[in-house]
Amino acid sequence: MHFPSLSTLAFLYASSELLVGVVAQDRTTEQGEASIDDPTQECSPYSYAPVSEAKNSFPPIWQPATILSTDSVALDLWQSIEGRVLTNISVKGSITGHFTSGYPSSDPDCWWTYNGCVVPKHPNLSADIADVPEPSTLGYGFDDGPSCSHNTFYDYLASKNQKATMFFIGSNVMDYPLEAQRALVDGHEICVHTWSHNYMTGFSSQDAFAELYYSLQAIKLVVGVTPTCWRPPYGDVDDRIRSIASALGLRTILWKYDSNDWMEGVNGVPPSTIDANYQSLINDAKNGTFDSVGAIMLTHELNNFTMSEAVKFYDQLSGAFDNIVPVGVAYNITQPYVETNYSMPTFQECKF
Ligand SMILES: *[C@@H]1O[C@H](CO)[C@@H](O)[C@H](O)[C@H]1NC(C)=O
Ligand SMILES: *[C@@H]1O[C@H](CO)[C@@H](O)[C@H](O)[C@H]1NC(C)=O
Ligand SMILES: *[C@@H]1O[C@H](CO)[C@@H](O)[C@H](O)[C@H]1NC(C)=O
Ligand SMILES: *[C@@H]1O[C@H](CO)[C@@H](O)[C@H](O)[C@H]1NC(C)=O
Ligand SMILES: *[C@@H]1O[C@H](CO)[C@@H](O)[C@H](O)[C@H]1NC(C)=O
Ligand SMILES: *[C@@H]1O[C@H](CO)[C@@H](O)[C@H](O)[C@H]1NC(C)=O
Repeated sequence: MHFPSLSTLAFLYASSELLVGVVAQDRTTEQGEASIDDPTQECSPYSYAPVSEAKNSFPPIWQPATILSTDSVALDLWQSIEGRVLTNISVKGSITGHFTSGYPSSDPDCWWTYNGCVVPKHPNLSADIADVPEPSTLGYGFDDGPSCSHNTFYDYLASKNQKATMFFIGSNVMDYPLEAQRALVDGHEICVHTWSHNYMTGFSSQDAFAELYYSLQAIKLVVGVTPTCWRPPYGDVDDRIRSIASALGLRTILWKYDSNDWMEGVNGVPPSTIDANYQSLINDAKNGTFDSVGAIMLTHELNNFTMSEAVKFYDQLSGAFDNIVPVGVAYNITQPYVETNYSMPTFQECKF
């Protein structure tokens, strides 16, 4: 996908701003950064001391993660959980994707990419979360943040007193730490979306661990909390990867509805296709599909289009569902982080 080029673009914007002498914004605090409403300014790079000082304790951003040879804490943790990893499931294809041909139709590994399996074959693993237990409820969440240009979108959510689950990419957290902080300040739930956004079943077990571990460390460093949930990029998970996530205390969250919002403009996919995907969720909500079990739809804070779609359909979604809440809230998970001094509301407290 096209994430890395964003910072290059942002750099060009930043340089042009310096030339025309635009007044500098406060790019050192969460509030300062949150007050910028020009996406060009928001997306120009800035330096944040806690991140620049810790850079050597992390893998290079936007590169597939591996445990740093100097990181004895990570190595010790890996060794302590290695025995719980299902090593009899092999690596699938490569981290840039793979076809499922040749994979046994009995789906021995509960490979989501093959057929949407969310109930692990291995008895020690919990089922993935792909919907929510509360009727007429949407478990609301956005992948791929923190997006550098999300202030307008987060302002909108705040104006609706609407919280969501944000699935953050570790490399984006390092690039845009103040944007990551805003999610917690605004009361959103933060989950992990890996370090480099690649196909997890293509990684060796130790590297898959590193993808999750360093994302958790980045969020802890920048935001001060350690998430207990994650979503695999492209949904690509099997029981081997689940066993690694589970050993790290991470619930696996998938979806059953897909807006495909990130595909707009890719291979000529028109906006109307994404509109139709939203509309079909709304129709199902109206015709009683969620009378006993609620829904999760995959949506992104990736770019202006995906966030604009979320804004465009918010009122209709809120008319069609009785409740729109973060995924963890729909499960009454009031302590979504390892740190016990931060809590989220219960479902009863949150719904309105
Ligand atoms: C599964 O759980 C059982 C019982 O807790 C335990 O003995 C066994 O080692 C676990 N297997 C794996 C692969 O973690
Ligand atoms: C891997 O081994 C576990 C027991 O540790 C077993 O339950 C599981 O079925 C095996 N998976 C495959 C794909 O062979
Ligand atoms: C709702 O509509 C969808 C098609 O949009 C259909 O597949 C589904 O069966 C309907 N559900 C109910 C409960 O009527
Ligand atoms: C998308 O971009 C337009 C044009 O710059 C802007 O007016 C709008 O606020 C942006 N929407 C979001 C959700 O960021
Ligand atoms: C959440 O708590 C409410 C109120 O106690 C309860 O009705 C609901 O069943 C709980 N949901 C889950 C998934 O535990
Ligand atoms: C939780 O505790 C940590 C220190 O242990 C502190 O930095 C943080 O501000 C606290 N968070 C809240 C929400 O109280």
